[in-house]
Parts: sequence; C-alpha cells; structure tokens
Amino acid sequence: MSEHSDLLKRLQELRELSVLGGGKEKIEQQKQKGKLWVRERLDKLLDPGSFVELQWLRVHRSTYFGLDKARFYGDGVITGYGRIDGRLVYVYAQDFTVLGGSIGEAHGEKIAKTIELAVQTGVPVIGLYDSGGARIQEGVAALHGCGKIFNSNVKASGVIPQIAVIMGPCAGAAAYSPALMDFVIVVKGSYMFITGPEVVKAATGVSVTFEQLGGADVHGSISGVAHFVAESEEEAFTIIRRLLSYLPSNCTEEPPYVATEDPVDRRIDELYEIVPLDSMKPFNVKRVIELIVDNGEFLEVHANYAKSAVVGFGRIGGYSVCIVANQPEVNAGVIDIDASNKIARFVRFCDAFNLPIVTLVDTPGFMPGVDQEHGGIIKHGAKILHAYAEATVPKITVVMRKAYGGAYIAMGSLSLNSDINYAWPTAEIAVMGPEGAVRILYRKEMEKAPDPEALFREKLKEYRELFANPYRAAELGYIDDVIDPAQTRKKVYEALVALSTKHAEPTPLRKHSNIPL
Ligand code: HXC
Repeated sequence: MSEHSDLLKRLQELRELSVLGGGKEKIEQQKQKGKLWVRERLDKLLDPGSFVELQWLRVHRSTYFGLDKARFYGDGVITGYGRIDGRLVYVYAQDFTVLGGSIGEAHGEKIAKTIELAVQTGVPVIGLYDSGGARIQEGVAALHGCGKIFNSNVKASGVIPQIAVIMGPCAGAAAYSPALMDFVIVVKGSYMFITGPEVVKAATGVSVTFEQLGGADVHGSISGVAHFVAESEEEAFTIIRRLLSYLPSNCTEEPPYVATEDPVDRRIDELYEIVPLDSMKPFNVKRVIELIVDNGEFLEVHANYAKSAVVGFGRIGGYSVCIVANQPEVNAGVIDIDASNKIARFVRFCDAFNLPIVTLVDTPGFMPGVDQEHGGIIKHGAKILHAYAEATVPKITVVMRKAYGGAYIAMGSLSLNSDINYAWPTAEIAVMGPEGAVRILYRKEMEKAPDPEALFREKLKEYRELFANPYRAAELGYIDDVIDPAQTRKKVYEALVALSTKHAEPTPLRKHSNIPL
C-alpha cells in the first residue's frame, strides 16, 4: 500500500506541476492583465465537472536556448474533451504562462490530435488562443507543430464546426489556425497579427499600436477576420453556447430542433410600417429578420463588417436556419467586395452543415466604382454565385423590394437552383433600376425631344409598370408566388417543412469545385 501511495504521490506532484503551467507568478501576471487563468476559462466554458484532460504530461524535446532546463508539463496547451449544454465538444486552450503560449512541436501535435479526435468522433472543436506564435527556440520543429495544426484544421473543414476564441495575443503562425476555422470570436483587448508592430515599423516605417494593427474592432469591422467581437471572456463563452445551439455536431447530422411556442402562422403586420413602399427609402432589415424568426432571436455574424449585408442564425418554427439579407439601411443594400465575401462564406458554411438558407432581397446591385473593379468585385461577387449555385440545402428566397441585375441572380435566385422563391407585391425585379434604365434606353430620344423631362417621366411610368413589380417575374416562372408580407413567417415555415426531405442531386464526377478566391 505504501509503495502505491508513493507512486500516487509522484503522479499527484506531476499533476500539480502541470496544472500550474508557467507558475503562480505568471498566473498572477495574467490576472493583472484582466485575463482569466486558462483553467478558469475551461471551467467557465464547459459544463461543470465535464472536462477530461489528455496528454497533460507531454513536454517538448528541444534543448536549445535553455529549453533543456525548462520543462513544462502539458507544453503550454491544455487539451481534451468536455460538454457544453450536455453536448460533447473537443477543446484546446493555450496557456500564455508557459513560454507565452508559443507553439512548439509537442504543443502543435497536441492541438492537431485534439482536432483529429473531434473529426473522428464527429463533434465540434473549440480552440482558445493566447499565443506569441511559433516557439522561436524550437526552430523548424515549432514550424512543424504549427503546420500540423493547420493540416488538421483543413481536414476538419466542413466535417465538424470549428470555433476559435482569441483571448490575448494571437501572433504569427498562431493566427492562421483561427483563420482556417469556421468562426473567430475576438475578446476586446486581444489582438491578432501575422507580423507585429516592430516588424511593421522596420519593414514599412509605419508606427502602429497592437490595437490599431490587429485589435478586436479592427478584425470585427475592417479585416473581417473576426465573426464576433466579445466585450469579455464570459461573453465569448455565451456566444459559443448560442452558436452551437444552432449547429449540428457534424456534417452528417441535422441541426438541433428547438420546439417553440411562437406560432408559425403569426402574421407580421408591422412589416407594412417598417418597409417603405418607395424602394429608394431605407429600412433596417434586422427588424424584419427579428419579426420573422422565433421569439425575435437572431444571432448575427459579422455584425460590424460589410454592413450592407446581414447574415446570421435564427429559428423558424423550431428549425435552425441561416438568414442572408441585404441591408437597405447601409448604402441601399449594395453588394460590395466585403459583402460578397461575407455572404459567400456564410452560405458555404450553412450548406456544409445542413442548415437551410433563407434569403431576403433588397439590393440595387453590385457596387460600382474604380476601387471596387480594381479590387476584383468580379471575382469576389462571383463567390456568391458559386456558393448559392453549389449549395444543396433547402433554399428559400423572399424578394422584398429591389432585385436588380447581377445582384438579383446572386441573391438566391431560382436560376441558381434556389428551391422556393417568393416576392412581396413591392418587389422590383429588373436588369437595372428604372431611372438608369430609361436614361440608357431613351438617351437619343430625350436629346431630341421638345420636353425631355416629360418624355423621361412618361417612359419611367412605362418601365415601372412593366418591371417595377413582381408580376413579370412570376409570369415567367422566376418567382413561385407573390405573398402578403404579413404572411412571410408562415410561408417560409411551410416551405421549410416541404423541403425538409430534399435530397441533393448527384453532381458530375470531380475532385472539388474551384470557387474563385
Ligand atoms: C517563444 C515567446 C514567444 C515566441 C512570446 N514568448 N512569444 N517565446 N516564442 N514566439 C515568451 C516571451 O519571451 C516571454 O517569456 C513570454 O512569452 C511572455 O512574453 P512577453 O513579451 O513578456 O509578453 P507581452 O508583453 O504580453 O507580449 C506578448 C507578445 C510578444 C506581443 C506576443 O511576446 C511578442 O511580440 N512575441 C513575438 C510575436 C511574434 O512575432 N510571433 C511570430 C513568431 S514567428 P518570459 O520567459 O520572459 O516570460 C511565427 C511564424 C510565422 O509564428 C509564420 C507566419 C505565418
């Protein structure tokens, strides 16, 4: 017995060393920065008592730059599995107190193994990042560790949901793993960059702070790297729980169904007030979305990035759905380069995870401009076309007002294999808006006309009668029904039920499609 207790004592000592990571002093420094200790993070993220840690005894092999004397059990990352709202998830959490959370060979391989286990068992993986990047002392072995993580992230892509939370620095190689995952949540005060302020200064002469270079707001509103910005670490965990509630655990499962008391046939008479008849007048599409979904609950993704489009998750009659909408309140709902990337990426995620897509259309078209053309709006806008045409999940579109030109085609049109398309009586479906169209069609006549303004008004009326309504499109079969806006929730719900047994058509043999990137 005493031999056993000696052995167990040794195990206990090693465990304590591993738990303390870089030591009490460094844990204290972490707290002074306003950050939670990595083990507190896991306690707050996971259901109580559910976490099972793996490979906490693992250490690095490198002996350079003093690493022969510094042994950190666990190698600066805690890995394992646990539960969130009862559902199994795999997790890894970098420990900044150990060599700044830097990624060495063992650290990287631990994370890679965690992702691989998540793939094999078909459950989501969540990574908590707090890292100075590739571990400088380990040289190429550190780069290999980073590469192993990226490789696993790529293999997991489209198989299981991958969620990254940035809770401190996320520098260099550390930043590319979140970038390969499905959702990135950045906690305020954290920052992500490939090369830091010092290198930026040396290479370009520009002085910039960590915050200005890669802070939460920069990634949440300018780069689009962050899908969510969280005010605090606790808020980040709430976002994860909300996000997972809409998602299946893997690509072979259906999303969770959550019974609702919100009547599926609830009329939305408020829409008559919210949406102006004049299609040039703005309204906030988020109010429309909140009225359509169950209990007004909408989880917006990329809320501050590319704001002329709105994407996010909701439920209709208990079914998880992806909502994609133009936002008439921002640049009339025009689709620019960033909005193209935002929409296309979201549509592909939803298609990969069996989430039906509900598209609400009110857009004047793709954004004109030299910067947009030079920036490649052609290839970026094409991503939306590719994503919708390729998606095999149920697709339901409601044209609310303007649906002009290429943007009409892009936003879930029947031409791109949408399943059921509705239009409100206020819909205007045409190659372009009335004013522009009349000026092009009647330029010569107006130059010669004694009263050009009268001719313009007459032709405008003619064009509006012909195209500024949904009826030509419905006559030609490009719209399945023109519906009363107040019945939108009911109609979309009925379509979701009708399409719930939809089977994907077989595609010709190919390795994979080649979406324009
Ligand atoms: C080894 C590292 C490290 C790293 C930080 N540390 N980054 N050790 N490799 N990459 C160590 C520090 O030496 C220090 O050790 C401890 O972590 C805490 O770091 P501090 O600098 O004291 O903390 P702080 O002031 O909060 O600054 C954090 C930081 C800074 C901004 C992340 O450490 C930093 O700039 N690190 C380098 C970031 C970077 O350039 N990474 C890219 C690496 S190359 P002690 O013992 O003093 O506590 C890379 C490959 C590029 O990743 C691939 C591109 C795709």
